[in-house]
Amino acid sequence: MSGTSLDGIDVAVVDITKTKITPLIFGTTPYSRAVREALLSVSNGMTHTAVIARLHFLLGELYAEAIRETCKRRIKLDSIDLIGMHGQTIFHEGTPVEYMGHRVASTMQIGDPALVAERTGIRTISNFRERDLAAGGKGAPLVPYVDYMLFRHRTRARVALNIGGIANITVIPAAAKPEQVVAFDTGPGNMVMDALVRKLTDGKQSCDVNGKIARGAQVHDKMLDGMLRDPYFALKPPKTAGREQFGEDFANGLAATGVPLPDLIATATEFTVRSIALAIVKYASPKAEVIASGGGIHNAFLMERLSALLPAAKLTTSADFGIDPDAKEAIAFAALAHEFVRGRAANLPSATGARRAVLLGRDTPA
Ligand SMILES: Nc1ncnc2c1ncn2[C@@H]1O[C@H](COP(=O)(O)OP(=O)(O)O)[C@@H](O)[C@H]1O
Ligand SMILES: [Mg+2]
Repeated sequence: MSGTSLDGIDVAVVDITKTKITPLIFGTTPYSRAVREALLSVSNGMTHTAVIARLHFLLGELYAEAIRETCKRRIKLDSIDLIGMHGQTIFHEGTPVEYMGHRVASTMQIGDPALVAERTGIRTISNFRERDLAAGGKGAPLVPYVDYMLFRHRTRARVALNIGGIANITVIPAAAKPEQVVAFDTGPGNMVMDALVRKLTDGKQSCDVNGKIARGAQVHDKMLDGMLRDPYFALKPPKTAGREQFGEDFANGLAATGVPLPDLIATATEFTVRSIALAIVKYASPKAEVIASGGGIHNAFLMERLSALLPAAKLTTSADFGIDPDAKEAIAFAALAHEFVRGRAANLPSATGARRAVLLGRDTPA
């Protein structure tokens, strides 16, 4: 798994049976600064096709290396049946646009699966999003299917919250049927904060470690109110957000106001927290059991603010369910690859808006 934060490659080794998902090993390999910047330059930007093609194959190599490195001395590669490879999203437009007389929705994840299969000798399932798009869905979010497998409960309503570059929730009512699951991107996760911290530190720091900067700075309430009036928050789910809304352009717009960067970081942190809390209150319940995951849970100040805004909620992390919060999304794509091999449709039409449940993934044999 490599997410919108562009922080690196997550590898989870997972034992999966029909009824149980058991995480075994987890490792993260950060992207080098050069790779990160190249990926950023092709994400919603003007570029040359050669750059995309080279990055596509380079990432295949890097994914294979990350897998081999994570497994080294811990598990034999030939004991692994299957790789679920998300790839790196460089463009995602889940809602169709008018294009040359057609309505076109599109998505692109790069990282060549043939290279991964060749270098590891392991069957690789990739391109999970395209079939859902073809079936009229937004191609996202896909993890809710796995949240439902992991967290549904007979008597308890639960919310799985992931705070990556973008934040999203999966609302799972007590004893829910799959079609009762509601899931969508709540808005920014760490993305706006990260971009502002990079500006403040000239790229030396890539995130507000533990929320230290935000904790010591001032939230600008007027600016925050303006940010929360973004039409995205009033849209009904299913809906998805990405770098095109909350990436560098958004952060540059904030910086152009002349408000000191630490205050902007505090305001961006509160923006993330408020948009998450609003979504939970509106689509779940102020008393929901919230199971958090993703890199954002390490931001102690963000988590304190979230807990303050949801005083009646039971805020936990996926670690309480035996799932390393940093590994959850990687574990989810292992589970999705397994569903593909079992021939089971793994999109939740209630979450993606697809006309029907479809088989997700493309198969590259070993
Ligand atoms: N100690 C920390 N303090 C604050 N933020 C952190 C910390 N550790 C990780 N993060 C945040 O988590 C992000 C990575 O989260 P991740 O779940 O990998 O997102 P994605 O799925 O978008 O790649 C980093 O970019 C950073 O913003
Ligand atoms: Mg990541």
